[in-house]
Amino acid sequence: MESQVDQTQPDKQVFPPSPEFREAAVARPELYEAAAEDREGFWADQARNLLHWHKPFTQTLDWSDPPFARWFDDGELNVAYNCLDRHVEEGNGDRIALYWEGEPGDSRAITYAELTAEVKKAANVLESLGVTAGDRVAIYLPMIPEAVVSMLAVARIGAAHSVVFGGFSADSLRARIDDAGAKLVITADGGWRKGKVSPLKPAVDASLEPRGGLPAQDTVTNVLVVRRGENEVDWNDRDVWWHEAMADASPEHEARAFPAENPLFILYTSGTTGKPKGILHTSGGYLTQVAFTHRNVFDLRPESDVYWCTADVGWITGHSYVTYGPLANGATQVLYEGTPDAPHAGRWWEIVEKYKVTILYTAPTAIRSFMKLGRQIPEAFDLSSLRLLGSVGEPINPEAWLWYRHVIGADRTPIVDTWWQTETGAIMISALPGVTDAKPGSAQVPIPGITIDVVDDAGTPVGHGDGLLVVSEPWPSMLRGIWGDPDRYRETYWEKFGDRYFAGDGARLDEDGDVWLLGRVDDVMNVSGHRLSTAEIESALVAHHFTAEAAVVGASDETTGQAVVAFVIIKQSQLATAEATDIAAELRSHVAKQIGPIARPRDIYVVAELPKTRSGKIMRRLLRDLAEGREIGDTTTLADTQVMRIIGDKVR
Ligand code: PRX
Repeated sequence: MESQVDQTQPDKQVFPPSPEFREAAVARPELYEAAAEDREGFWADQARNLLHWHKPFTQTLDWSDPPFARWFDDGELNVAYNCLDRHVEEGNGDRIALYWEGEPGDSRAITYAELTAEVKKAANVLESLGVTAGDRVAIYLPMIPEAVVSMLAVARIGAAHSVVFGGFSADSLRARIDDAGAKLVITADGGWRKGKVSPLKPAVDASLEPRGGLPAQDTVTNVLVVRRGENEVDWNDRDVWWHEAMADASPEHEARAFPAENPLFILYTSGTTGKPKGILHTSGGYLTQVAFTHRNVFDLRPESDVYWCTADVGWITGHSYVTYGPLANGATQVLYEGTPDAPHAGRWWEIVEKYKVTILYTAPTAIRSFMKLGRQIPEAFDLSSLRLLGSVGEPINPEAWLWYRHVIGADRTPIVDTWWQTETGAIMISALPGVTDAKPGSAQVPIPGITIDVVDDAGTPVGHGDGLLVVSEPWPSMLRGIWGDPDRYRETYWEKFGDRYFAGDGARLDEDGDVWLLGRVDDVMNVSGHRLSTAEIESALVAHHFTAEAAVVGASDETTGQAVVAFVIIKQSQLATAEATDIAAELRSHVAKQIGPIARPRDIYVVAELPKTRSGKIMRRLLRDLAEGREIGDTTTLADTQVMRIIGDKVR
């Protein structure tokens, strides 16, 4: 196979599935035909085949009040029952649900029967703390089994979770707790990261304190604390140890049925303004599409595969393809607590070898950093168990795709490049393994039952060529809104094209009709597959007493896809103090403290002015040219055309 790879024109390569793979594949080409014939009927069939309904639905889609969709509206189900109890009842209680690997090397294998028992107890704990259906629970945990148990326990009692990535700061956590009005926070003393315990509970304590004249977060009545890091923690009246509460909890808990449209979770993501959006997902439609895609896109055989998605549960990938999709399908999966390079650079490959992982789902950033370190690291391990590889979160360049297939996949494995978003809830565009001929660098085709298009600014389909990606029909796992802000939901996604969902991504349709994603077209950056808002980082920068004004751009970066580059103007009154310190270091750590280390700018340039139009709008496009070392584009609309030359002198 290797000889077919033409490195000079990698995007011209096509990789058809092997005849054996095609023959045995879970996904069949007929899926496309069935969905094209009767799209809603297709999804109704998936919902009935893949899930257990306590009360069957009679209506598939209610789109009478667009853009607010209701799927399977009169049906009732319990999401946790679908992910747990039914597998045990079907005789698969002894199957491993989670192979958990702690960063220091401790591990646990948890069967479906054991996971079900844990979730039942945790559901009783939540109820004993006064959490009921409709309440919100914030989860701020490391990648430990209790993270999955917590999510499912919240779902089981009909409440909604808001998982906050453990790398977010106390301030970010506070904003999320506040926006959702969370009643309970589930956290840990700390988790293992890069060889040491990284504390979590202090951030929760700080997020619940009165601050800057603002009252404490009074919706939170308790904090449930898992013991993991064994680090010292302060203790308050509202705090409850997880292990103590679980020891006292009854192992019996009946999974009640909830309406299909019952909120399942809120997950905050960055938008074009400074305030993160609480993306709302509900139960029946969401679970249908994550289960369908997890089974068909990953060619899943629950009885024999060992699946591993490396995402943290703090992101949508972790929600849909660590917790809900795999468990709804009764899969066996690996859950890993730590970073890829702790305690050594081959840690991931050691895990693949140890658990004989068959399906690996990760992000291009990770692949590119492994490429940089060299193939000798993965080659030291036995990766022959792998039979399918997946990619998500950002465009994968053909070189990284080919390396992934060649070095990790031994030129055998299909690769699925999956495009989707926090808002879409589940995979929307991807090859189907065994069906699609794979094209390195292209996400390729919408999955069966999904209709997308690429249109120009006026909404006219481009046919072939570049434009904006839209989803033309409502889909089961679509967001149901932005928590508490229906107007922002309409404006952000539906105002531009009326009846079609605007994804915020640029895309190209090639002559075969395959989709190539071209990155965001708004002020959202994608750093290591994580979404960051320029506006949010700018407001963190101007919150520092040094800063008068700030502009942030995402500049292309070889490893992380994009990197945060900031241009700041220092206040006259602060110049003397600022110049006596390392301004860039000070501001970088300030952003890390305000938002989280992932938002820390790679470069900070102190400038005297920013390029603005006559109406005062910052021209980020020009700053991006500068940050990427390109020729500066058209400057004629600038109020002061000299300004770019002055800034340029600073950067070069
Ligand atoms: O720009 C697209 C990019 O990630 C954005 C969604 O980010 P988030 O909501 O954090 O979800 C990431 C994980 C699903 C998209 O608007 N993106 C995601 N997957 C791909 C991608 N860009 C290109 N190719 C992909 N496969």
